[in-house]
Amino acid sequence: MFTLPQNLRIAHESSTLMTSFTVLGGPSSEQLARKVASKLNSKYIGCQLRLFPDGESKITLNGKPKGRIIVVQSVYPPVDSNLVRALAIISQAKKYSSHVYAVIPYMGYARQDREFLSGEVVTMSLVTKMLKTAGASKIVVVDIHSMMALKHFTIPAKNVSAIEELVKYFKKLHLKDPLVVSPDMGGIERAKNFANLLGVDYIALEKHRDRKTGEVAIKSSEHHEVRGRDLILVDDMISTGGSIVKAAEFLKRQKCGKIYASCTHALLIGDAEKRIRKAGVTKIISTNTIPGKTSIIDVSPVIVKAIS
Ligand code: R5P
Repeated sequence: MFTLPQNLRIAHESSTLMTSFTVLGGPSSEQLARKVASKLNSKYIGCQLRLFPDGESKITLNGKPKGRIIVVQSVYPPVDSNLVRALAIISQAKKYSSHVYAVIPYMGYARQDREFLSGEVVTMSLVTKMLKTAGASKIVVVDIHSMMALKHFTIPAKNVSAIEELVKYFKKLHLKDPLVVSPDMGGIERAKNFANLLGVDYIALEKHRDRKTGEVAIKSSEHHEVRGRDLILVDDMISTGGSIVKAAEFLKRQKCGKIYASCTHALLIGDAEKRIRKAGVTKIISTNTIPGKTSIIDVSPVIVKAIS
């Protein structure tokens, strides 16, 4: 019998592994899913979405998946609809394979990971159960809001970070004495990682959010080190823009240079983008976990790395 030499065997086996995936792109993550499929040299199957007059989603797969299946469907607004669509695609995928990887680039509900005020429902816990029941055998998320949210999963769940990809963008800019700033103390580790990869310093502001009204205020006193320097405000997500707006206004009062806002997930609800620019932010840079005007950084390389 003819046997391949060892080096060719390894190459053949890894290419077999690469082509044994089918990537199913959900309606919220079609472009990202196509990129994942192309990097894995795998078959891509899209989905058709029909909306019934009452708002129900009807999903139809555009083909028959084979081998291990990767479902890519982000859970951004409309959050509940995109979640149900993810569950529907996963449950259909499960009919074709016992290995269904659910890639949820933006994991909605991750902020509801604990009971902050008495009586609040920890909905993240329910979401993890629903994903498992639908048929997901593994979960991959990108920069999940809290690691506590990830701990609710009882199936293997991996968080990957887009920070390296975001930093690559900033390395190409010619910033003046750059400083990385986290708008709150909770984001200090993220700011530290970002700054270390960029080879610059970092600071964190003190933010207070009223748990009932959602109102944000910056509590820090003066930060003299920002004067004349270009700043990169780093957060995991921008939702209403309240945190970035308050931080930018505070930093502008300290006579900083240009301000850039960098995040993984730019939800940019309502007129958030306009208010952020009005607060003095030169540019918002985000990733394609949520497609939009600011999502210029591709996270498919980190997703592929996590899977393969
Ligand atoms: C908070 O802990 C998060 O890291 C973000 O700062 C927050 O979710 C952003 O929300 P918003 O844009 O509404 O201030």
